[in-house]
Amino acid sequence: MQSYKKLLEGNKEWSAAKTSADPDYFKRLSAQQAPESLWIGCSDSRVPADMITGTDPGEIFVHRNISNLVVNADINLLSVLQFAVEVLQVKNVIVCGHYGCGGIKAAMTNEYYGIINHWLKNIKEIYAENKTEISALKTEKEQADRLTELNVIAQVSNLSKTSIIQRAWQNNNRPNLFGWVYGLDNGLIKPVCEMKAGTEIDPIFKYNNL
Ligand code: CO
Repeated sequence: MQSYKKLLEGNKEWSAAKTSADPDYFKRLSAQQAPESLWIGCSDSRVPADMITGTDPGEIFVHRNISNLVVNADINLLSVLQFAVEVLQVKNVIVCGHYGCGGIKAAMTNEYYGIINHWLKNIKEIYAENKTEISALKTEKEQADRLTELNVIAQVSNLSKTSIIQRAWQNNNRPNLFGWVYGLDNGLIKPVCEMKAGTEIDPIFKYNNL
């Protein structure tokens, strides 16, 4: 069977199974969505937000891009963030990276892959800032794993520097921000950082008139 047909067949089977287990499942889901979490994850096909967290449709609002970056000129990310924080009023924003991330590995090389390198430059900056710590690790895998963690920490920090998060912290004392890394080899998520709503940030990035 062609791979796209497999997707449509799989969809029919999934829909039938859900309906037979719970006849009102889709009626209830289509009425509204009230997710409590926004997930900013990697586009990697092996890291599906709802499956690895054991959640159902409707529970997580999702944005994914290569290597789960929060770039403050990314109108796509900012639109998702604003909608999630201000309209859906999520309580948690999670940046979830994953070990074995191709984007992280590529950013550690000098290969040029085209337009993607403009995106990966964001990771190269984090690599450069933490070169001493990363280089002290023995294997390439350990180095890439650490950069994966440092990347997630940097992206959570980037979130806290947005006007969207600062306004929500000031007015609503939410959302809390979390940085996690998922292990492809064991299916487990490792929390690496957390910024509770209202955490003091570097005054340079603070807005007073939101
Ligand atoms: Co990845």
